[in-house]
Amino acid sequence: MLAIRLTTGPERLDTLVLPVRPGGPADAGASAELVPTASALPDDVLAEAAALAPVARLTGRAGQTREHLRPTRTPERLLLLGVGDGDEQGWRVAGAALARAAKAEPRLAVALPDDAPAAVRGLVEGLLLGSYRFRLTEAGEAPALREVDLLVTDVEAYREVVELARTTAENTRLARDLTNMPSSVKNPQWFTAQVEAAAAGTPDLHLRVRGPEELAAEGFGGILAVGGGSASGPRLVELDWRPAGAKRHVVLVGKGITFDTGGISIKPRDAMKLMRKDMAGAAAVIGATLGAAALGLPVRVTTLAPLAENMVSGSAFRPGDIIRHYGGLTSESTNSDAEGRLVLADALAYAVAELRPDLLVDLATLTGANAVALGKRTGALYSDNDELADELLAAIAAAGESAWRMPLAADYVEHLGSDLADLHSSPAGASSVTAALFLREFTGDLRERWVHVDMSAPSWAEGDDAELTKGATGWGVRGLLRWLATLD
Ligand code: BES
Ligand code: MN
Ligand code: ZN
Repeated sequence: MLAIRLTTGPERLDTLVLPVRPGGPADAGASAELVPTASALPDDVLAEAAALAPVARLTGRAGQTREHLRPTRTPERLLLLGVGDGDEQGWRVAGAALARAAKAEPRLAVALPDDAPAAVRGLVEGLLLGSYRFRLTEAGEAPALREVDLLVTDVEAYREVVELARTTAENTRLARDLTNMPSSVKNPQWFTAQVEAAAAGTPDLHLRVRGPEELAAEGFGGILAVGGGSASGPRLVELDWRPAGAKRHVVLVGKGITFDTGGISIKPRDAMKLMRKDMAGAAAVIGATLGAAALGLPVRVTTLAPLAENMVSGSAFRPGDIIRHYGGLTSESTNSDAEGRLVLADALAYAVAELRPDLLVDLATLTGANAVALGKRTGALYSDNDELADELLAAIAAAGESAWRMPLAADYVEHLGSDLADLHSSPAGASSVTAALFLREFTGDLRERWVHVDMSAPSWAEGDDAELTKGATGWGVRGLLRWLATLD
């Protein structure tokens, strides 16, 4: 990961990055102007950069970059960087663009405006997320970029915000790593070991893992049914950040299907090829919880990650089976590809009965319908609690992620009826909505303090796009951490 350092004056000035913004209304065709920065820079350099912006026909939109070479002079290179409106998101986009545009430069110094914590937060996240790469081999050329100096006048004033941004990005990168990993490696046991390694050594962070025997003894019938077809048995990870004096307790639940073949109701080839990402919800809630612990947030966070591989085999569960979930509710499944809600149901019921939190949030790559309804970047958020929904939506947006509230439509509730069991788990109707309605049945007296996010669409990016890199996005870590930081 890039080393990012706050400094009042760099040891060396090889490449100096100067922010530019639109100089006037965009439709007036005005060219970019320099953003006033805080640190003392040579007047001639600033004058040159200011003159350069119009000559280079820069508009100053966020993410625009232009390198200018100055052989025999110092600095040798000027890099003009568009930051748009100069808000946090503009700087995040700029940071990511900078990491890509300057990847051949070993070292950069970025001049920052005065009193701009949001700029620093956005820039650091953008740099660390835009430079993310997932590689299992040494194939391809590694970027030369290693160090970024942030030029400010008061280093102490920014320490905390840099730490916040770094922790956010680090844990987003962890969630990406977990989600990108091929499922030949990533079985429930492997995922568990990753959590164990990441959590080790942090005080007040406790990990409990249940294997197939414990799950059977305690009645986690949904996790066992879905995991039953795999040679790699299921697990339930329970990661508990329990700071002394915490007044509130949040439980996060994340779908952790390490590969989804669809089971006996097998998926067609094209629908299956990306199903290693079907644990992105689990990765996100784990990342958010590790982040909360690293930042020492004063709120208790217990994360549940039910992990299972949905496979086709002689021991796989069948369409028409009746599943007995944790706590005793039963469900009839007629489609083994609707497996996510079965493992989530157990975890939600367990959270309500045993952990008794104040708030309950689950994230899941639950349905393809999420992308049909909302496109590729936006999660579908469901809740009966307007205030809670609004707060979470606001945190998600502020963090640079996107979600849209969807209705827990009353007219679909009737589809949850079954002749044989308490509930039908894969009924007709808009599938993202009916999945949410099914989950709600397991929230007991937390029904009004529960949020579900179907995030199958934004969990993956088909190509590099601003702070997203092709592949897993780590969606949810940023928004959840931002939201957790507002609770006390
Ligand atoms: N993991 C899939 C959902 C999914 C689809 C995630 C596409 C990402 C991209 C989930 O387990 C699933 O198969 N859902 C079914 C539900 C249906 C059987 C009711 C779906 O969306 O088709
Ligand atoms: Mn499925
Ligand atoms: Zn799935």
